[in-house]
Amino acid sequence: MTTRLVHTRDELRSAMANRSGEVGVVMTMGALHDGHRELIKVARRRCKVIVVTVFLNPLQFAPSEDLSRYPMTLDADVALCAEEDVDLVFAPSVEEVYPAGEPQVRVHAGPLGDVLEGASRPGHFDGVLTVVAKLLHLTSPDVAYFGQKDAQQALVIRKLVRDLDMEVRIEIEPTVREDDGLALSSRNARLHGDNRRRALALSRALQVAQQAAAGGERDAAAIAQLARAQMQELQVEPDYIELVDPEDLTPVHALRGDTLVTVAARIGEVRLIDNTVIIIDGDAEVATLLP
Ligand code: PAF
Repeated sequence: MTTRLVHTRDELRSAMANRSGEVGVVMTMGALHDGHRELIKVARRRCKVIVVTVFLNPLQFAPSEDLSRYPMTLDADVALCAEEDVDLVFAPSVEEVYPAGEPQVRVHAGPLGDVLEGASRPGHFDGVLTVVAKLLHLTSPDVAYFGQKDAQQALVIRKLVRDLDMEVRIEIEPTVREDDGLALSSRNARLHGDNRRRALALSRALQVAQQAAAGGERDAAAIAQLARAQMQELQVEPDYIELVDPEDLTPVHALRGDTLVTVAARIGEVRLIDNTVIIIDGDAEVATLLP
């Protein structure tokens, strides 16, 4: 079956008109990599019709951020989608998504959007949720797939559909990593020379946190300190490294249940994020989610 590329909402509507069966959507900002490929593969296995959206959403970038340097590779993205048997790629222009300019009515992420990434990037999650809501309306999927690497994004999207009664299932799939542990991201293409090696600071910090918990450490501040020291070995200073409750992102002080360890750092000009969940079953057993 051939993958069809459409750019307008009218084309999308008519391409979807005669389809039947469960529709799965994978939303992206383009520059597709193997992490997206994995999401698409999961969607392909579970759904009859697969739509991939490719839209670099200006609303989620602050003026000072790297929107203009974000890689744009639509031809390669469509080729990857064709390899994975995607039915439809929806790649609208900014004018198509925001015909009246910046929308005056937006989805507000609330308190979950103000912490962690939201504290470093004010308004970011309002921009994400506004475009996700629009793309959900435009593509009308039964299921939407997102990656665990953007854990806070996944959480606020889950809240969006629950709080606003949207009829769509949100599935979160595990982070895909390079062999050395680096989480796949479209931004990795901009890591050159020594910065590629220094970028390992994030996943290594998470491994150190996992190991400390596996060794019985339950004090979140102590675990964060070990992880921070690991990053500093690679001359990387984190924007933040926090241990939080994965359900509401409130700080965890002593590890008892599942704990999300989340980290962000600037490597040269590239801002990276990563996370892992420390799972504590009873007192001692800790699951290692990283390689
Ligand atoms: O994760 C992303 O690529 C973006 O934030 C998303 C969900 C496609 C919204 O623009």
